[in-house]
Amino acid sequence: MWDRKYREWEYDAYGTGSWHVTEEKGLENEHVPVLLNEVLEWLNPSHGKKYIDCTLGMSGMAQQILLRSAPDGQLLGIDQDLQAIDRGEQVLKDSCDRVQLRHANYRALKELATEAGFSQVDGVVFDLGVSTPQLMQAERGFSFMKDGPLDMRMDQSSGQTAAEFLERIPEKDLANVIFEYGEERYSRRIARAIVNVRREPILTTSHLSDIIRQAVPAPYRHGRIHCSTRTFQALRIAVNRELEGLAETLQDAVSLLKVGGRLCVIAFHSLEDRIVKQTFRTLSAKPDLIVSRLVKKPVIPTLDEQRGNPRSRSAKLRIVERLPGRDEI
Ligand SMILES: C[S@@+](CC[C@H](N)C(=O)[O-])C[C@H]1O[C@@H](n2cnc3c(N)ncnc32)[C@H](O)[C@@H]1O
Repeated sequence: MWDRKYREWEYDAYGTGSWHVTEEKGLENEHVPVLLNEVLEWLNPSHGKKYIDCTLGMSGMAQQILLRSAPDGQLLGIDQDLQAIDRGEQVLKDSCDRVQLRHANYRALKELATEAGFSQVDGVVFDLGVSTPQLMQAERGFSFMKDGPLDMRMDQSSGQTAAEFLERIPEKDLANVIFEYGEERYSRRIARAIVNVRREPILTTSHLSDIIRQAVPAPYRHGRIHCSTRTFQALRIAVNRELEGLAETLQDAVSLLKVGGRLCVIAFHSLEDRIVKQTFRTLSAKPDLIVSRLVKKPVIPTLDEQRGNPRSRSAKLRIVERLPGRDEI
């Protein structure tokens, strides 16, 4: 069971607070990179070196890495969202001779890196989860605050949408997904309500949100967080298979690091962070000692950053450095 702190963290990770703020400021589509200064400090991008950004997003981090590693540092940027790659091509065009972008899932990191000539690198970054534009664009279907098609796929070129996922999944499995990935205490009631009405497909975010609202007790509808938050988070994690293969991918990332190279990972919810923490612990344990953990406790945003960018409140950064000795992991 997650402790209270973790649960609070989950709510923030879905960013309901920050949506209001960004909407007020008219910045719905802006993604402010979280813990950017801290990542740059630990990564210390320098000229002539090679870096991989496994979650390119809006290219904010990639841009800074390229700036600091000018004139000849190189970057491989990966994202499973085609919009992120298109945006990267524009934002990073001044450094296009030093950048390679790939529309792919980072689970294929090792093959992508080898093919791109990045099999020995100085730094790798993962800034996990969803970007602000993904959350804010109604047509992406992540948000219960904006009506849109119930999609939720980061990679809209493959896989099943949330609507398709809900059409087929057995009630018990659905309840487990909602409980496990959302820690929703009314997971069974919500799963039953969805199954009861799904003869007609549930095609929009507002329809799903209405079903959830009707399934939960009245006081819960007016709680501190929106009653759809946890279910939407759970579905998003399931649809994108966000936790699948993460541990293996982090090991692959470590295997690409030169001795002294660093891996920085930012997680936004406890399930993800737990995988990062355990993987780093295993890789730094005796007798293997493949990496050294550079921070015992995760780095979190300063109060200033948390105030300026509420989405950052749930972020945790962990860093490891590759040690000499083992060639193969
Ligand atoms: C939090 S955003 C990254 C923001 C970025 N650091 C920036 O500065 O703008 C996370 C990005 O990771 C991408 N992503 C999440 N899971 C992925 C996966 N398995 N493979 C590739 N990209 C992924 C998402 O599509 C999203 O664009």
